[in-house]
Amino acid sequence: MTTQDTRPPWPYPRWIAHRGAGKLAPENTLAAFRSGASQGYRMFECDVKLSLDGVPFLLHDDTLVRTTNAREQFGAGLNAVAGEHRWSALSRLDAGSWHSRAFAGEPLASFDNIARFCLSNGYFLNIEIKPTAGLERQTGEVVADHAAQLWAHASVPPLLSSFDPPALAGARARQPQLPRALLLDALWSGWLETALTLECVALVCNHALWDASTVAQARSAGLRTLSYTVNDESAAQRLIDLGTDGLITDRVDLFAPARQPPVN
Ligand code: G3P
Ligand code: MG
Repeated sequence: MTTQDTRPPWPYPRWIAHRGAGKLAPENTLAAFRSGASQGYRMFECDVKLSLDGVPFLLHDDTLVRTTNAREQFGAGLNAVAGEHRWSALSRLDAGSWHSRAFAGEPLASFDNIARFCLSNGYFLNIEIKPTAGLERQTGEVVADHAAQLWAHASVPPLLSSFDPPALAGARARQPQLPRALLLDALWSGWLETALTLECVALVCNHALWDASTVAQARSAGLRTLSYTVNDESAAQRLIDLGTDGLITDRVDLFAPARQPPVN
């Protein structure tokens, strides 16, 4: 006999494109979102941090080196820490050439522009708060404030997630109504209690962490169960069979969300 699921309905699609679908196009750029959308994706994950002057923008790494032309643009004595540059300088960088010539000149994306793209098209968003070191709480606060304003008239809010409990605490303090998820790359001591203290609605785990026991613990605590980064069919099937709720993938070319069953 299966236990009745008393959790509130989950408004998000099962399949989520990672970094805005950032394999076929440069990660965390508008081009990546367009690429994922062209493959049928309706929900996206992206990484958001703050510029020196407090503008939220999309970038995974702490530094600009891997995914922009900052070395070329800022010259030899480069300070590569992304969060130590103003948005006026960051917004002039080329965040596409590193990927391929087809995307030369693609800019870094401001969070507000990506939000507007999602809202105009009816897409769902998972905002991973990815703070520059030392700015964990502040980043959670600012990102939550922007998200609350941008989604003020939307029927489904974005899902805020972070590996950093202080970032989620900042988001909760400023905009408690926005749903939160704790990201886990390991089951560190107190993971479930931390998620509950932060009033999270979900856990987003490295997919290897999910098994019958961890799924049952999360479910009985009222939490939804999501995974990153699910890039092969056997891993996806295992997670679906376990009854988990969301799969974040790079392989938008392999998994066709329109053909997948919805979350119950
Ligand atoms: O949010 C899920 C996933 O993106 C976490 O890992 O390093 O790709 O941001 P990372
Ligand atoms: Mg991420």
